[in-house]
Amino acid sequence: MAKNDDIKEIEDLPGIGEATAEKLRAAGYDTLEKVAVASPHELAEVAEMSVDAAKKAIEAAKNATKVEFITGMEEYERRQSVAKIDTNSKNLNQLIGGGIETRGITEVYGRFASGKSQIGFQLSVNVQLPPERGGLGGGVLFIDTEGTFRPERISEIATAKGLDYKSVLENIYLIRAGTTEEQILAVEHADKLIEEKNIKLIVVDSLTALFRAEFVGRSSLGERQQKLAAHLHKLQSLADKYNLAVYITNQVMDNPAVSFADPTTPIGGNILAHAATVRLYIKKSRENKRVVRLVDSPFLPEGECVIKITSEGISD
Ligand code: GTP
Ligand code: MG
Repeated sequence: MAKNDDIKEIEDLPGIGEATAEKLRAAGYDTLEKVAVASPHELAEVAEMSVDAAKKAIEAAKNATKVEFITGMEEYERRQSVAKIDTNSKNLNQLIGGGIETRGITEVYGRFASGKSQIGFQLSVNVQLPPERGGLGGGVLFIDTEGTFRPERISEIATAKGLDYKSVLENIYLIRAGTTEEQILAVEHADKLIEEKNIKLIVVDSLTALFRAEFVGRSSLGERQQKLAAHLHKLQSLADKYNLAVYITNQVMDNPAVSFADPTTPIGGNILAHAATVRLYIKKSRENKRVVRLVDSPFLPEGECVIKITSEGISD
């Protein structure tokens, strides 16, 4: 019999073969959660199985969908261990409560050339600094989905911080993903690299571009959102497991439904809105200035700040 960990779909439940699974699905029992809360008699009837067998299937579904809880004290301790990466801008640090947090996902969305990738480069340098200089003394996993990673630019930013650019670049593990599968697998297989190289920052630049390109049209929206949700879930679990920071970038679309103010909406819908711990909207201003707005945070007030992009990187 399958171990609980191996039970992922209703077919994996004891006593449920393909034909029975079909009957269950037809009756609306298409997930483990739905089976877990079914009554044995109901299930026995629709699946044409014995009540005893139905009880066993329900028990297994319950075990496979266990709800994990922690105490308030455990959550307090978890929060105490959160560390922060200096963004290189005091204004921006202040806006987000001190820096980019570990154990969470920070999203920056905005139009092209607004500075999303530049912030990712700056963080890739700063995370390598020791804690007393605003870093975490760790390495970077950089997932580049747009081919816009620029080692020369990193080198410039690193040199401005007084670091040896070669060792900074050696400590950035780059994956060029050309498909959503490659992007997803890069994260699924990240554990070993994270452990061996003490990765403290994962950058996904951009999180949504490939998803947007591959899943076109309304009919594929459900599948896209499902894949995106699983991908984000994995990123969050890595952030938690290894106490690391996740930085993701996202594009905007023009939203004709909003006819006033700034009609731009980030891609990814509710799935992304809920997954990101901190959401920032970055917008071009005059010259090299950028306005960064804190859009959504469970524990910080909304607000705005101005940053600059100079040859040395991000600054006030
Ligand atoms: P997309 O990936 O196209 O959606 O844009 P993005 O938001 O990632 O933009 P990115 O971070 O690549 O920002 C590009 C902008 O950063 C440029 O238009 C410049 O204004 C600025 N920039 C990039 N490199 C330098 C530099 O070396 N010096 C200065 N002063 N500005 C730079
Ligand atoms: Mg970019």
